[in-house]
Amino acid sequence: MPVPHMLNHRVSDVLLIYSIFFSYFPGFISSAVVSLGSIEIYRTHEWLKATPTVYFLCKGENKTILPDVKKAHVFYTFKGEESWQPLTNFSSAKCKRCGFYEQDRIISDETFDEWEFCPSDFTKPEGKYLRFKEKEFNATFLCPECLSFVSVSSSASEGPEGGKGMHMAVLVLLSVLGLTILILMVVGAYKYWQKKKREQDQARFLKLFEEGDDIEDELSLGTIM
Ligand SMILES: *[C@@H]1O[C@H](CO)[C@@H](O)[C@H](O)[C@H]1NC(C)=O
Ligand SMILES: *[C@@H]1O[C@H](CO)[C@@H](O)[C@H](O)[C@H]1NC(C)=O
Ligand SMILES: *[C@@H]1O[C@H](CO)[C@@H](O)[C@H](O)[C@H]1NC(C)=O
Repeated sequence: MPVPHMLNHRVSDVLLIYSIFFSYFPGFISSAVVSLGSIEIYRTHEWLKATPTVYFLCKGENKTILPDVKKAHVFYTFKGEESWQPLTNFSSAKCKRCGFYEQDRIISDETFDEWEFCPSDFTKPEGKYLRFKEKEFNATFLCPECLSFVSVSSSASEGPEGGKGMHMAVLVLLSVLGLTILILMVVGAYKYWQKKKREQDQARFLKLFEEGDDIEDELSLGTIM
């Protein structure tokens, strides 16, 4: 079936263009989710030997309590799908001030560590970030989508506003391109169909003509000769 085959070909071209587009401009992901891969705490700050309540917090956001982390020197690993995950998310390459803390019922909360948490901290290939603080904790964070922020921010050197404008322009350009391809596809399919139809008509006509010829031959052979 030639027509669907041709259509398939064009569709695959469009898909290819879009996949190239999204691999080069993955910054269209609006939000990169950060989950905790593992954590081990080396001490608890709780005086009364009660089980500690450890939480993660980024400034201006809500606490994420780690319900399983109750003991020091235990290596806890997570799938990233736990009910309290994700820890936070990034919507740009901008850093956040975050930390691990321990809730204290008596005095103010204790700090394991507080630092600038940046999408650029996540390393290839799987978007992993290991943070270790001596005598406090060893934790790994996962954010595969953060890698795309970093590559986008380094390629868009005009700054966040200019980058956004460029992305919009690229988006518009690609939409137009996509539409053009779609139109070409439809026109091509129509042309092809027209051609096929014409050929069929011609074939039918020729067949009719030949049949007519046979009769005519018999009739007119004598007169012409
Ligand atoms: C924080 O939690 C409160 C209620 O628990 C919710 O209304 C608010 O939207 C949350 N804020 C963020 C940034 O998630
Ligand atoms: C992640 O971002 C979405 C919106 O982009 C928001 O609704 C959600 O609460 C955020 N999650 C966290 C853990 O900050
Ligand atoms: C921290 O944990 C990672 C595993 O997630 C491990 O490879 C690394 O050796 C640990 N670092 C220390 C100092 O224990």
